[in-house]
Amino acid sequence: MHIDKLEKNWAGISLGIAGLFVTVILGSAFFHGIHAPSNVETIDSAKLHLSAEFAEDKLGVERNPNGSVTVRMVAGRYGFYPKELTLPAETEITFRWVSLDVIHGVHMPMTNMSTMIVPGYVAQVITAFHHAGDYPVLCNEYCGMGHAHMWSNIKVVSKAQWEALNKQGGANHG
Ligand code: CUA
Repeated sequence: MHIDKLEKNWAGISLGIAGLFVTVILGSAFFHGIHAPSNVETIDSAKLHLSAEFAEDKLGVERNPNGSVTVRMVAGRYGFYPKELTLPAETEITFRWVSLDVIHGVHMPMTNMSTMIVPGYVAQVITAFHHAGDYPVLCNEYCGMGHAHMWSNIKVVSKAQWEALNKQGGANHG
């Protein structure tokens, strides 16, 4: 079978482009930890205050026995609660988000944190902060008149500083 040289070249270019895209996807998944949200866990958004995990006094930071940290937060018109948190740098952090009303999104620039928070589901993102500093937490799904004002702040300090704060008893329930 004869295949024209020009056709061969174009077939090569299109395969090359497809290969490049696959490489970029694998690169973001394995080297930057960017994944499509896949955590399908349901929760009754109308009864968060009665739930075992997202009752008001359970929100915020929990330290796990293996040294990692779990953060539970609630998104609602128009804020993320707790409003302020202090977290350690260079530590694996599992964020668990729920919405108490409509669909919100959460985006933290310069991190892999970007997910929708859909009522009825728990959104989970695992991340780590490599630098100390203030990280804004922004809503990126239009959720009503106050959408543009829906943001909060997470403060990241070095691991040693965070340990010291915890010894003094409580940087973390906001
Ligand atoms: Cu919440 Cu936009």
